[in-house]
Amino acid sequence: MITGTTRFTPLLAHPSRHVRTPGVFNAECAARGLDMVMVPLDVTPAGLAATVAALRGVANLAGMVVTIPHKGAVAALCDRLTGAAEMLGVCNIIRREPDGSLTGAMFDGEGFVAGLRQEGYEPSGKSVLLVGAGGAAAGLAHALAAAGVARLTIANRSPDKAEALASDLRAVFPGVNIGAGPADPAGYDLAINGTSLGMHEGDALPFDAARLLPGTLVAEVVMQPDVTPLLTAAAARGCRVHKGVHMITAQVRLLVDFLA
Ligand SMILES: NC(=O)c1ccc[n+]([C@@H]2O[C@H](COP(=O)([O-])OP(=O)(O)OC[C@H]3O[C@@H](n4cnc5c(N)ncnc54)[C@H](OP(=O)(O)O)[C@@H]3O)[C@@H](O)[C@H]2O)c1
Repeated sequence: MITGTTRFTPLLAHPSRHVRTPGVFNAECAARGLDMVMVPLDVTPAGLAATVAALRGVANLAGMVVTIPHKGAVAALCDRLTGAAEMLGVCNIIRREPDGSLTGAMFDGEGFVAGLRQEGYEPSGKSVLLVGAGGAAAGLAHALAAAGVARLTIANRSPDKAEALASDLRAVFPGVNIGAGPADPAGYDLAINGTSLGMHEGDALPFDAARLLPGTLVAEVVMQPDVTPLLTAAAARGCRVHKGVHMITAQVRLLVDFLA
C-alpha cells in the first residue's frame, strides 16, 4: 500500500515498455515489509540530466535504478561511484544519501553470477565467452573475473570496446586469462549473450548457434522475451540454457539491500 511515507525508486529507461524489474522489485519490497515502490520512468537521453537533477530534490527518493540506454551517462551525474561502478564508469543503481548527494553502484554482474549459482552453476574455473561490451556486459565481465573464471573472451560488434574492457580488467585481475576475440562459442564452458540482441523480433543471434557443443551452458541477459531465439537454438543443439530472468531475480535482492 502506498502511503505518505512511501520511499520512491524510479526505474529510468528508454523505452520502458520491455522492463520487468518493477514487478520483481515491488514483490521483494512487499515480502520484506519495506515501504518502498518502483515505477518505470521513460526518459530520453536528452532528458536524463534534467530528470536526475530534479529527482535529487525529492526527499522521499530512495534512489534510482537505471537501464538501457542510460548506464554510462548516469554514472557521470553521480557525486561518487563505488565498487565495480567506479572501475567501469557505468552504474545501474543510484542511492540518494540523506544530504541529497548521489552514490552510484553496479550490480548487473553480481546479480548475474548470483543467478548462475542460484541455478546450481559455479563459474569459478570455467572458460567463458561473453558477447557484448555495453553496460550490462561490462558488469558481467567484472563479476565473472572476480568469481575466478579461468578464461574470459569478450566479443563485441564494436571491437575497440571489447579490447578496452579486456585491457582494464586484466589490470585488476592479473590471474585471469582475459582477452578480446571472435564471437565463436565452440569449446567454451559458458557462452553468454550480454548484448541487447534478442529483444526485438528479427534480431540476429549474438553468435552462431551451429558452433555450440552440447557441454556448453548458454546464458542470456535479455529477459523479454523470456525464452530468446538464442536459448531456443541452444536447447535444440543439446545445450543447457540459463534465462535472463535469473539475473534480475538474484540482482533485485542486492538492489533492495543497497537502498534499504
Ligand atoms: N536480466 C537482467 O537482469 C538484465 C540487467 C541489465 C540489462 N539487461 C539486458 O541486457 C541487455 C544489454 O543492456 P546494456 O545496458 O548493456 O545496453 P548497452 O549498454 O546499450 O549495450 C548494448 C550492447 O549490445 C550490443 N549491440 C546492440 N545492438 C547490436 C546489434 N545490432 N548487433 C550487435 N551488437 C549489438 C552493443 O554493441 P556496441 O558496443 O557495438 O554498440 C553493446 O555491446 C538489454 O537487453 C538489457 O535489457 C538484463
